[in-house]
Amino acid sequence: MDQFDVVVIGGGPGGYVAAIRAAQLGFKVACIDEWKNAKGGPAPGGTCTNVGCIPSKALLQSSEHYEHALHHFGDHGITASGVKMDVAKMLVRKDAVVKQNNDGILYLFKKNKVTFFHGRGSFAGAAKEGVYEINVSEPANAQIAAKHVIIATGSNARALPGAAFDEKLILSNDGALRMGDVPKKLGVIGAGVIGLEMGSVWRRLGADVTVLEGLPTFLGAVDEQIAKEAAKLFKKQGLNISLGVKVGAIKPGKNDVTVEYTTADGKAETATFDKLIVSIGRVPNTVGLNAEAAGVKLDERGFIVVDEDCKTSQANVWAVGDVVRGPMLAHKAEEEGVAVAERIAGQHPHIDFNCVPWVIYTSPEIAWVGKTEQQLKAEGVAYKAGSFPFMANGRARALGNTDGMVKILADAKTDKVLGMHAVGPVVSELIAEGVMAMEFGASSEDIARICHAHPTLSEATKEAALAVDKRTLNF
Ligand code: FAD
Ligand code: NAI
Repeated sequence: MDQFDVVVIGGGPGGYVAAIRAAQLGFKVACIDEWKNAKGGPAPGGTCTNVGCIPSKALLQSSEHYEHALHHFGDHGITASGVKMDVAKMLVRKDAVVKQNNDGILYLFKKNKVTFFHGRGSFAGAAKEGVYEINVSEPANAQIAAKHVIIATGSNARALPGAAFDEKLILSNDGALRMGDVPKKLGVIGAGVIGLEMGSVWRRLGADVTVLEGLPTFLGAVDEQIAKEAAKLFKKQGLNISLGVKVGAIKPGKNDVTVEYTTADGKAETATFDKLIVSIGRVPNTVGLNAEAAGVKLDERGFIVVDEDCKTSQANVWAVGDVVRGPMLAHKAEEEGVAVAERIAGQHPHIDFNCVPWVIYTSPEIAWVGKTEQQLKAEGVAYKAGSFPFMANGRARALGNTDGMVKILADAKTDKVLGMHAVGPVVSELIAEGVMAMEFGASSEDIARICHAHPTLSEATKEAALAVDKRTLNF
């Protein structure tokens, strides 16, 4: 039986990054991942690479180009006639982007001398003299052993009761990313991150999109001012979002699917869609892992129980990413993977969850880090707020994309940055400055005094920091 120092089960962003970092630290490492590509071959990278972050961003980009060609080229004096979208080609491109990432991870495993096993990993039982035996199913068919095991088995889409995903009419993120045609009428249940991103893709391509959200507030975790602005802009784009809806029976027909629901004001409604995306959150994935046999505890919702260092209930078994508590984000999974590898090596890394950024890749994008205004109010923290609209930013005007704003929240006494919130063009890139400021314990004055290149969107961040002290220069 091959013996390793560290075996990682799951090759998504949590797992493959943990494996690489452990190998960099001098350990003999194996990573097991079961994801198969269309030909049955290995496709490491997990949800993120195969049916998540990467393919969704590829489709968001393609559909945005299409929308620009149709509706915004004219503003720049460009006439484009006969603009057409070839959905099949768009999907081929998306698949090629995914494959580049799968291949990139296989290359990185080779480069870092991580042994890769394609198959399902499961615990053979409890540790014997401090060593865990792991069975690997086909196609690898192997049994390996290790002192340390890192579980990084990710998550799956949550289905609505009585409405299993068939990926033809009722779609999870998987089906939502590979519709062969643009549906005329697309229903989306859940106005969360996937609902908004996927709803945007298919709306841009011509679908009439209706989003049914159970909660009465739109994007409740987002700063209220930013969420309000985003809701206004999405409405203007034609994304129909109904809040406070109670979804009832879902009845798939031959070629369409009917949803019964009650509106926020108690009216019973029925809507029929060509396709229905159900994006109501995700559940941890421990299928076939046999974690219980090794004595690894799961909580009542199926998450692997870990402490703040990602230690499970069993010595030398660790768990990271979507399968444990905390936000289900690729970069959070990666940070945990790196930290666990370093802890195994006796180091003492620390992750500040308050500094994990969030991004929603709609147009405009939404990004944030740290506390929202509503959280600070609820916690009774005295704060100052400064915001700056992209309308007053030279680069945004040149881009022709002036929707949205950047907002910075700082402690009223110390001026320490407590949060940054933005809606607008490419704010996914701007948010890194807020993360850096918070990690370094910077004040809003620190950001305001940093020289930002002109003309850049990042000047909106500097101006928002100036606005905290009520001294914007350009607004
Ligand atoms: P996963 O990526 O789910 O990887 C787990 C891997 O383990 C999978 O390959 C699985 O096949 C494998 N596995 C499971 N069990 C076993 C086993 N027993 N043996 C062997 N292999 C096993 N996050 C962002 O930060 N930014 C985004 O833009 C973003 N976009 C997203 C878009 C969509 C549509 C979705 C669905 C998610 C998105 N996410 C995004 C979330 C992100 O994909 C996840 O947070 C991230 O993939 C979690 O990483 P992970 O390593 O924990 O798990
Ligand atoms: P989500 O948690 O973002 O949103 C789910 C939404 O569905 C919520 O607004 C919730 O109130 C609503 N909902 C739940 N049950 C409902 C019901 N029965 N009827 C109507 N509405 C209901 O989950 P989502 O969009 O499925 O995404 C899962 C996770 O994947 C995200 O939380 C995020 O962690 C990750 N992700 C991250 C992305 C990014 O970083 N850009 C992109 C896509 C996903």
